[in-house]
Amino acid sequence: MATVPPHELLLVPAAGDPARAALREQCYAVRIAVFVTEQGFPLDAEIDDLDETATHFLLRLLPSRTPVGTIRCSRHGGYYKLSRLAVLKEYRQCRFGRELVLALHDFVKRDARRTGAAGFVPVKSHSQIPAKGFYAKFGYQPQGEEFDEDGAPHQLMVAQLSLSD
Ligand SMILES: CC(C)(COP(=O)(O)OP(=O)(O)OC[C@H]1O[C@@H](n2cnc3c(N)ncnc32)[C@H](O)[C@@H]1OP(=O)(O)O)[C@@H](O)C(=O)NCCC(=O)NCCS
Repeated sequence: MATVPPHELLLVPAAGDPARAALREQCYAVRIAVFVTEQGFPLDAEIDDLDETATHFLLRLLPSRTPVGTIRCSRHGGYYKLSRLAVLKEYRQCRFGRELVLALHDFVKRDARRTGAAGFVPVKSHSQIPAKGFYAKFGYQPQGEEFDEDGAPHQLMVAQLSLSD
């Protein structure tokens, strides 16, 4: 593992909070650098309807507060969705991706318990094929066939989070 630079992980405030817009823009900046500039996905597909209501997480270097990672969580009927996980290329293999996924999992568990759920809660991700092994480390298992999303093959990966942990 590379040396881990000092950093902070922020939960972007919910819709309606005046601090949300500026922090969410920083999440968008990381996503655009990774998905649009690096990977070539279309810019017009990057920001979508889920962004309005989703819970966003932002990872920044300290003390500069430079944004280097992000992830997004949305609640759907009966499951949560993990999406837009991105770490800037020069900061990969520092465990930032892991930190973002685990922060999302903690959030899902708190949110699910608050709504009275018990047992297990499913979290779904549309994984790019090269990222399947990453998700597998966090309990995600492939379901169904590969499918096309925004011009690239993806795989539905699903984790069942225990609410009793
Ligand atoms: C996928 C991504 C978020 C991983 O972030 P990262 O910060 O480099 O990952 P971490 O350092 O936290 O890695 C955690 C573990 O996963 C492993 N890992 C990282 N990327 C992996 C990959 N693509 N496949 C398999 N394992 C991977 C690491 O080796 C590490 O393993 P260890 O715990 O045994 O040491 C990052 O590579 C990225 O942003 N890629 C481009 C965007 C992308 O593809 N996003 C996912 C869209 S579905």
